[in-house]
Amino acid sequence: MNTPVCDFLRAYRESGAVRMHMPGHKGKPLTGPEASDLTEIAGADELYRARGILRESEENAAALFGSARTVYSAEGSSLCIRAMLYLACLRAAERGLPRRILAGRNAHKTLMTAAALLDLEIDWIYPGKEEGLLSCRVTGERIASCLREKEYMAVYLTTPDYPGRMSPVGEISRACRGAGVPLLVDNAHGAYLRFLERDEHPLSAGADMCCDSAHKTLPCLTGAAYLHIGKGAPESFAAEAERAMALFASTSPSWLILQSLDRVNGELAGPLPERIRRTARETRELRKALEGRGWQCAGDEEMKLTLCPKSFGYTGEEAAGILRGQGIECEFADPDYLVLMPSSETGEEDLRRLREALEGIPRREPVTERPPELKRLERAMSVREAMLSPAEVIPAEQAAGRILADPCVGCPPAVPPAVAGERLDEAAAAVFRYYGIRECAVVRR
Ligand SMILES: Cc1ncc(COP(=O)(O)O)c(C=O)c1O
Repeated sequence: MNTPVCDFLRAYRESGAVRMHMPGHKGKPLTGPEASDLTEIAGADELYRARGILRESEENAAALFGSARTVYSAEGSSLCIRAMLYLACLRAAERGLPRRILAGRNAHKTLMTAAALLDLEIDWIYPGKEEGLLSCRVTGERIASCLREKEYMAVYLTTPDYPGRMSPVGEISRACRGAGVPLLVDNAHGAYLRFLERDEHPLSAGADMCCDSAHKTLPCLTGAAYLHIGKGAPESFAAEAERAMALFASTSPSWLILQSLDRVNGELAGPLPERIRRTARETRELRKALEGRGWQCAGDEEMKLTLCPKSFGYTGEEAAGILRGQGIECEFADPDYLVLMPSSETGEEDLRRLREALEGIPRREPVTERPPELKRLERAMSVREAMLSPAEVIPAEQAAGRILADPCVGCPPAVPPAVAGERLDEAAAAVFRYYGIRECAVVRR
């Protein structure tokens, strides 16, 4: 029998590609795999009743991140997001609050799957008109004003988002605290932020809970993530955190992933922060050099390089294709963006290859096609109702008038054009066309 996955991985390994994408270890060997792949045997502890070596390791991570409690996930931030929202639901139930959250529209689709599981109502904060379709920078003032108007069980933010935009968590957390509403942050892209010269981690800025995908920006195996509970958070969050994770998690966590989380603690207490700062510095310099040559960049995240290549004459996909031709694989490309993710493990030689490849791209007439405007869609059903309804997959061209049953479409990169339960219209169909979305699941009539 053929082994297509093994073959693809071998070919990619042997190609020597510059990995401008996740995971943060960049393919550099960590430890040998199978020999360390265990289960919850005596002495190995139990992940969601951690009292032994796992608890000790989690406490080390908590000390490094400055949290009241850190719980490991071997199933990415996706698991932590469900757990965070469940914890907020428990608190809401105790206080008789509605299961309603206020969220920035640049949320990852896991928010929608969590909303379906927990039957959450989501009030969206949409991007301002001047921000275009794919951005959603939220301010403390905006949050404070929303919290004055309605009762919410939590505020949920995604920062940094996929293209690397960051919201001011400090002022937002003050607004939330002022209103007595917990702030939950999807910090999947920002585990490393804690270790920059100026700590930019959401927990340090006052978030009550956040998830970090260690695998995205730290040298950890794919799937490695943290659920962090802040020191100022309601006590029930830390007390119930393991139970919340266990509710959604597999009972067979990967010990290889747990080992990589433990190993990175040692590195974070040692030389890794310096390597992170070096990469952040080099990324900043590269961004500056590219801007000097006329490239337009997006986002303010330190260790991510997001180009808006249209002003230089290319779509994001075209620019990604040029890099690919030179053995450089990006994290993400769409018509407007090219997202590159160096990490502490990106060597000087790889950054030099990236720089030369980008500097070698000739400037052309700007691409003027803009993303179509998307009006807010009518909420016809709750996320849960839509996602649990019988559905059919239809061509996106025929979707106008129908209710979306997929968690969302077009996510990543950022603001989902439509989420489950919204009634699609012609404008949504135009957006789907623009992003190459050919089909979607809609609620069966
Ligand atoms: C913003 C954001 N949040 C959450 C996730 C889910 O994280 P994970 O893949 O670690 O489950 C992703 C994944 O890409 C993401 O981009």
